[in-house]
Amino acid sequence: MKRLLTGLQPSGDLTIGSLIGGIKQSVEYQNEYDSFIFVPDLHAITVPQDPTLLRDRIKKNVALYLACGINPNKNTIYLQSENVYHTNLSWVLECHTYMGEANRMTQYKDKSKKQENVSVGLFTYPILMAADILLYDADYVPVGIDQKQHVELARDIAMRFNKKYGSTFNVPNPLIPKVGAKIMDLQTPTKKMSKSDTETKGIIFLLDSEEVIRKKIMSAVTDSEAKVYYDIENKPGISNLLTIYSSFSGLSIEKTEEKFKDFNYGNLKKEVADVVVEKLMQIQKKYQEYMDSGIVDEVLNQGREKVEKIARQKYEEVMHKLGLGRN
Ligand code: TYM
Repeated sequence: MKRLLTGLQPSGDLTIGSLIGGIKQSVEYQNEYDSFIFVPDLHAITVPQDPTLLRDRIKKNVALYLACGINPNKNTIYLQSENVYHTNLSWVLECHTYMGEANRMTQYKDKSKKQENVSVGLFTYPILMAADILLYDADYVPVGIDQKQHVELARDIAMRFNKKYGSTFNVPNPLIPKVGAKIMDLQTPTKKMSKSDTETKGIIFLLDSEEVIRKKIMSAVTDSEAKVYYDIENKPGISNLLTIYSSFSGLSIEKTEEKFKDFNYGNLKKEVADVVVEKLMQIQKKYQEYMDSGIVDEVLNQGREKVEKIARQKYEEVMHKLGLGRN
């Protein structure tokens, strides 16, 4: 059975971008593939975090995975920081990654511009991500378009390692959603909706109240043409709203465009808000049940035990091939 693996950083509260780019595909494929979903909490500390908030968000992420439809009986769910082999393998992979390759990562370039004291961890973050993926021989990695370059780096490292030491790692493929690979900020629809932004007016968090969701969507930035059609270049705001509707309703972009072609912007926004509110209210109800039930710790304990065995075996194979240790 092919293996699917993904993770969402607890660096901010999850958004509808996280749902569409990261979680939705895992839910869709969980019956077909051996599915792994984890919390990359070590990735979160590549930028400063408040320990209390981080601890809270780790649990919230897991409860939200479940509330969004991740079935704990069909998925292996775990925390990155509870398995030392992620960082062990990351070091090995760092020693097989060229500075030139790491320097080309566009997300590092963007993120490092926004901070003062940039950590070395932020620079090596894509290599830890490669370790997350290669440790479990993932075949498919569902991600939004912003993570595609990182999965490609994991592919390159895997191929290089295999060529040098013989077949060791599966070469993973990114799985990018056809619609919603990059949900844009509602206030600045030319930039990605990002959970770690400080300006939150254009971001819909999965746990926003109905009132807040409606307000954010109704005040989304559009254009002055007053005509609804899909054109990312010239109408980023309207195209983003159509994409959000399409992702939440399951209707194709073409059909969504057709449905709303005679709507004014106010009515379009209202319909988008309705479909988002309906889905997020369902998720929030389940989220609360999972948070109150103790299931989060249960699934994480099971996950930790399972992945420790898989990861240890892979890491020992790597050690042996490199001539590390005594065996
Ligand atoms: P992160 O936490 O930034 O985002 C989690 C997932 O959500 C997707 N995503 C989006 N998709 C569409 N539109 C958006 N506005 C949007 N915002 C976020 C991201 O593409 C991602 O799929 N490095 C990763 C976490 C990670 C990981 C891994 C993922 C660590 N190790 C191994 C997969 C496999 C990250 O920071 O994603």
